[in-house]
Amino acid sequence: MPLKIAVIVGSLRKASFNRALAEALVRLPEGEGHAFTFAEIGDLPLYNQDDDGNQAEPVKRLKAQIRAADAVIFVTPEYNRSIPGVLKNAIDHASRPFGDSAWGGKPAGILGISPGQTGTAMSQQHLRNVLAGVGVQAMALPEVYLQHREGLFAEDVTLVERTATFVGKWLKTFLAHAELHRAG
Ligand code: FNR
Repeated sequence: MPLKIAVIVGSLRKASFNRALAEALVRLPEGEGHAFTFAEIGDLPLYNQDDDGNQAEPVKRLKAQIRAADAVIFVTPEYNRSIPGVLKNAIDHASRPFGDSAWGGKPAGILGISPGQTGTAMSQQHLRNVLAGVGVQAMALPEVYLQHREGLFAEDVTLVERTATFVGKWLKTFLAHAELHRAG
């Protein structure tokens, strides 16, 4: 059965490597037949608990996209050894108001790319911690920590073959994880 997968990118930068990775990921042959939708987080207001009873339209949209998805993929950079604030903001929004979280029980996968040698490892670890707190079942293994280097993406922003094979294997395992934990 085809899976509906929401993809959330933790960078708002136009030339984001993580956005490029996410876009290359959803075009890999391993994902063929499944429906990937990008859930955008750049227009969300800053989370304020006072607004819990009156969530902004972009927050409602995000929650509806997450609810409609069988699984979520996070593709995120590392900012100061953690996840970017915009990503945490999105996770917080979709977790509220108390008792009306959009996250509960969703299977998820995490990838990241950074020019630094640690390849988002700390960020991903922090994200796992946050996701556990909102009841998201993040796939533990395999992990993808990519270091951005010249030549990783081809001209058309697909991944070069070796990396596409590596990320494709991750995607195949992730789809099995998502299938295993899909609701109903
Ligand atoms: C960074 N960067 C970074 N890289 C890293 O590997 N570890 C880190 O802790 C940080 N910290 C950090 C903080 C802030 C505020 C910025 C703006 C950047 C570098 C970061 O990985 C790089 O800018 C990436 O290109 C960001 O991802 P996108 O936007 O290309 O997807």
